[in-house]
Amino acid sequence: MTGAREPSTSKATRSLGTRLPLTIALPKGRTLAPVFDLFAQAGVSAIGSDGSDERLAVEKDSRALVKHARLGAHRLALLFLKPDDVPTYVEYGTADLGICGRDVLFEREADVYHPVDLKLGKCRLVVAGKKTDPTAHVRTESTRMPRVATKYPRSAAWHFARRGLQVEIVNVQGSVELAPVTGLADLIVDLVETGATLAQNGLEVKEEIVSVSSLLVANRASYKLKAEPISELVGALRKLLGLTESG
Ligand code: PRP
Repeated sequence: MTGAREPSTSKATRSLGTRLPLTIALPKGRTLAPVFDLFAQAGVSAIGSDGSDERLAVEKDSRALVKHARLGAHRLALLFLKPDDVPTYVEYGTADLGICGRDVLFEREADVYHPVDLKLGKCRLVVAGKKTDPTAHVRTESTRMPRVATKYPRSAAWHFARRGLQVEIVNVQGSVELAPVTGLADLIVDLVETGATLAQNGLEVKEEIVSVSSLLVANRASYKLKAEPISELVGALRKLLGLTESG
């Protein structure tokens, strides 16, 4: 599950060269404020309506989906997307860079680089189930396959196939913890941050699938064609995060 598909040149390079600014796909929601803070510290500023530099800030009531910004001499176009759509925009080259969680990248298997782990939004993608049913995930005497509810069907299927367990995956879009409580499913695959949602619903972690944090992702063609602004931003972020060239 490492995104080893052949890169699609036509997809990756489509429309590159016609857009001068470096285009960055950002996830709307709780990650945006810390990402803006990090970008501001890296030297990115918003361009105000009169052309002057402004501090990047989340505008609560704004419905604008594009914001113009700059990093030194480089112009940036920031796109605001549903987190799940970020890898799609970056893989197709509509955005040169993006910010997305490792969980989303893992689920989408997008063919993109991920040069910097921003260490934001740290959590875990886990298998969880009822505290009172600790063997549910390896149950062998049941008359039916264990059912697993999740927003991450591909990651869940990959995990259980790797474990050699046959399960039925049930797609849900939210309040995933309700599935084992109501009997819709035996287990869930979902994100855990503080563990409060699991605890309050009588559930516990059975297995960890992957550690999750926000990553800077890059279109493969853009990484070469827009090397200068990308390396300036990547370098500034790495420096801020105390990362070495290989980190
Ligand atoms: C996420 C995730 C868990 C919860 C975990 O849900 O799907 O339900 O956060 O956080 P915790 O471990 O700190 O309790 P989100 O708040 O995004 O809402 P959702 O249920 O609609 O997916």
